[in-house]
Amino acid sequence: TYVVDERCIKCKTTDCVEVCPVDCFYEGENMLVIHPDECIDCGVCRPECPVDAIKPDSEPGMEKWLKLNSEYALKWPNITIKKDMPKDARDHWDETGKFEKYFSP
Ligand code: SF4
Ligand code: F3S
Repeated sequence: TYVVDERCIKCKTTDCVEVCPVDCFYEGENMLVIHPDECIDCGVCRPECPVDAIKPDSEPGMEKWLKLNSEYALKWPNITIKKDMPKDARDHWDETGKFEKYFSP
């Protein structure tokens, strides 16, 4: 499965949601997650994300994000239509430590 990592936090470009054939993105206040059991591993969303926040869960370091995507996909609403990205999104594109600083469930 593919999952969304920290790079989405405060970026939330939402280009990814329009291409997913199974509509498995879910929206939190400042990031999106993928429902790992709904994702069919097609990979089409990955190149849509300008910050490379979407990765296979098999990549090193993704265990935490798989867990977080699984948990919040059940709590947050589904999103299938692109929205305007936050006005300050670009200020946060390459920032690190965003989970600790900004994540809100
Ligand atoms: Fe959707 Fe395919 Fe991306 Fe999975 S890999 S979230 S099915 S677009
Ligand atoms: Fe986030 Fe990238 Fe989608 S920034 S909203 S995973 S296009």
